Amino acid sequence: MIDVNGKWALVTGASRGVGRQVALGLAEKGCNLVLHSRASAHTASLAAELKNAGIKIRELSADLADTQAARRMAEQAETLSGGIDIIYNNAAIMTPWREPFTAPPQDYHDSFTVNVISPIIICDVIVPRMLERGFGRVINVTSGIQDQPELMPYAVSKAALDKYVKDLALRLSGTGVVMSLLDPGWLRTDLGGSQAPNAVESVLPGALVPALLNDTAESGGYYRAQEYRNG
Ligand SMILES: NC(=O)c1ccc[n+]([C@@H]2O[C@H](COP(=O)([O-])OP(=O)(O)OC[C@H]3O[C@@H](n4cnc5c(N)ncnc54)[C@H](OP(=O)(O)O)[C@@H]3O)[C@@H](O)[C@H]2O)c1
Repeated sequence: MIDVNGKWALVTGASRGVGRQVALGLAEKGCNLVLHSRASAHTASLAAELKNAGIKIRELSADLADTQAARRMAEQAETLSGGIDIIYNNAAIMTPWREPFTAPPQDYHDSFTVNVISPIIICDVIVPRMLERGFGRVINVTSGIQDQPELMPYAVSKAALDKYVKDLALRLSGTGVVMSLLDPGWLRTDLGGSQAPNAVESVLPGALVPALLNDTAESGGYYRAQEYRNG
């Protein structure tokens, strides 16, 4: 495990759910944070909660449905931090539950823009700089969703993100930049719904595992947060 004390992490979708837990977990390890959501007001309470945590905090807003806003946000994160060490691409949307074969193209469009294209753009901006610096941890949050064709636009967007990570892995080998996938498990969040079997807090400590990997770890790893849960 690496020491992230004093490093900088960009956590997208940090205002609630998984992203908030990841931010709290990294803060506990002394990691400075760029907290992202759609509006800075959404991360204000988390930033206030972390005020005395002894870390530096910056807040950025961008609607990831707008890929140009995603690019600007990633650039700003680099500038504000002096260099992002950890990208936690967590923000995502779930499309409405619809009968198979009825989802409108817009569902696929929205899902791919927020869940795939913007996270990739964030990587496009920051990962080349990580490679120059010789260090980076990139975590793209995926899903173990399967056999739910009613959520197809969401499910195929996560499959695309998986493919992105798997196919980049070889290029990152030996660079000091390690890119991984994290499946948080089915959690009671706004996205996961109230029927989910797991409390959002159960995503820790597992969600931090891919952020704390040693340099010798290979990219392309698929980590399931629920496998690391306490108790
Ligand atoms: N919960 C589950 O059961 C589950 C299962 C498998 C995978 N996941 C994955 O885990 C990740 C987090 O999910 P969650 O359950 O924590 O979701 P959540 O509670 O709904 O939180 C979503 C976060 O993403 C941000 N966000 C949403 N739409 C956005 C947009 N258009 N632009 C920018 N930010 C946006 C939200 O910011 P605002 O506050 O500004 O809206 C919020 O911080 C996602 O990648 C999801 O696919 C979740």
